Amino acid sequence: MARSAPATALLELIRSRKAMTGVIGLGYVGLPLVVEFGRAGYSGVGVDLDARKVDAINAGQSYIDDVPTAHVAELVAGGRLRATTDFDVLSELDTINICVPTPLRKTKDPDMSYIVASAEQIGKRLRPGQLIILESTTYPGTTDELVLPMLEKNGLKVGRDFFLAFSPERVDPSNRSFNTHNIPKVIGGMTPDCTELAAALYDGAIKTIVPVSSPRVAEMVKLLENTFRAVNIGMVNELALMCDRMGIDVWEVVKAAATKPFGFMPFYPGPGLGGHCIPVDPFYLSWKARESGFEARFIELAGAVNGAMPHYVVTLIAEALNKVKRPLNGSKVLVAGVAYKRDVDDIRESPALDLLHLLHELGADLAYSDPFVPRLSGSAWPGGVDLSHVDLAAAAAGEFDCIVVVTDHSSFNYDHLQRAAKVVVDTRNAITAPRAHVVRLGAARSAHAPELASTRG
Ligand SMILES: NC(=O)c1ccc[n+]([C@@H]2O[C@H](COP(=O)([O-])OP(=O)(O)OC[C@H]3O[C@@H](n4cnc5c(N)ncnc54)[C@H](O)[C@@H]3O)[C@@H](O)[C@H]2O)c1
Repeated sequence: MARSAPATALLELIRSRKAMTGVIGLGYVGLPLVVEFGRAGYSGVGVDLDARKVDAINAGQSYIDDVPTAHVAELVAGGRLRATTDFDVLSELDTINICVPTPLRKTKDPDMSYIVASAEQIGKRLRPGQLIILESTTYPGTTDELVLPMLEKNGLKVGRDFFLAFSPERVDPSNRSFNTHNIPKVIGGMTPDCTELAAALYDGAIKTIVPVSSPRVAEMVKLLENTFRAVNIGMVNELALMCDRMGIDVWEVVKAAATKPFGFMPFYPGPGLGGHCIPVDPFYLSWKARESGFEARFIELAGAVNGAMPHYVVTLIAEALNKVKRPLNGSKVLVAGVAYKRDVDDIRESPALDLLHLLHELGADLAYSDPFVPRLSGSAWPGGVDLSHVDLAAAAAGEFDCIVVVTDHSSFNYDHLQRAAKVVVDTRNAITAPRAHVVRLGAARSAHAPELASTRG
């Protein structure tokens, strides 16, 4: 079928880099994307409800570790990037990428309110020749069942007047090898022209484009990737519990298994899942599958195993303290690492928050150390107490009854850490030279139970 006039005009704007790009939601996903568009030669506008983020960008500053401030400053100074809280700018844009949050409600149902709010803002101002791309992770069907009707409400037709695609974001904060630019981009448009236009837009900014046949396939691709991780982590967490019971070191097992050059990839146990994606996204899929009368059993099982890990860590802590004749109630327990993963400042869904909550309920006297998180507000965790980062280099020997390693930030000094604790629980196998008072998750508790601690040296 011949391309419509708006499609032809937009393709020309994109190819000549004259298209005005825009991104709604300037977080971990949206800011790197709008900067990448700028670096590819487009002009771009970021739209966010958060005036602090908007002000930072307009002042040429980045607030995301993976985006250098120099990149933002250069684009802002060159007039190729600005940010605003005013949605009226949407009518000036040729392309709009939606990168807003998709959390779960307390009931574990998808919270679509951010996508709906963004689509409403676009729908009110939609004009012929615009390309809309949803990037937020969501259930299959969101683009055509939820977003499309909101955009077609005023009579414009997808594929002819405006263009709509889904392209999942795969960015992995703090990953030094893979970033927005070199992670292949999957694209599924509502029509072939929608896919072609979206591919043309990303083509300059992103190295590899992977077109698929529909938005539903693209939505499912992302959920497959994240469910794959959640299920494999659940499986290895269960193996860790099994190894603990059987007196086998799970870390040694995974390391040796990973030498198989085909058919195996290593996953590692830990204190539970964290972050905005892995603990959340699979439930978008199981929720949607339920609508078709299908029960996603792997997802539910992995969720149950992974969700129980913080409870298991509490058991390890209680047992370790028991060895040194201390009850959890009243013990000084420090959580090392509250961010959800190594070398990031993001605490969303972090298992450390669950752990702090459980320990708080059992009466532990809590502290934490995390160079990426200077303060933990009481509103960020159910214990409701404000806490501040403790520098372990300054801690006295044996100052804490127990230190539990939850996030293995690369800057942690494990000599200082081991010295500051009467017992240590290492949930990440982070301590390469563990002393006798260290217990590792999944590493044969009975064989490695802590002795009465020597906290000297
Ligand atoms: N963070 C990641 O590593 C990652 C990776 C892949 C995919 N994702 C997915 O990408 C999406 C965005 O995640 P994120 O981590 O960037 O979230 P984020 O919370 O860092 O950023 C979202 C931004 O959207 C803004 N926002 C919220 N509602 C808005 C609205 N109605 N209009 C304008 N702005 C609004 C917020 O103020 C915030 O700045 C989610 O669906 C997430 O699952 C995230």
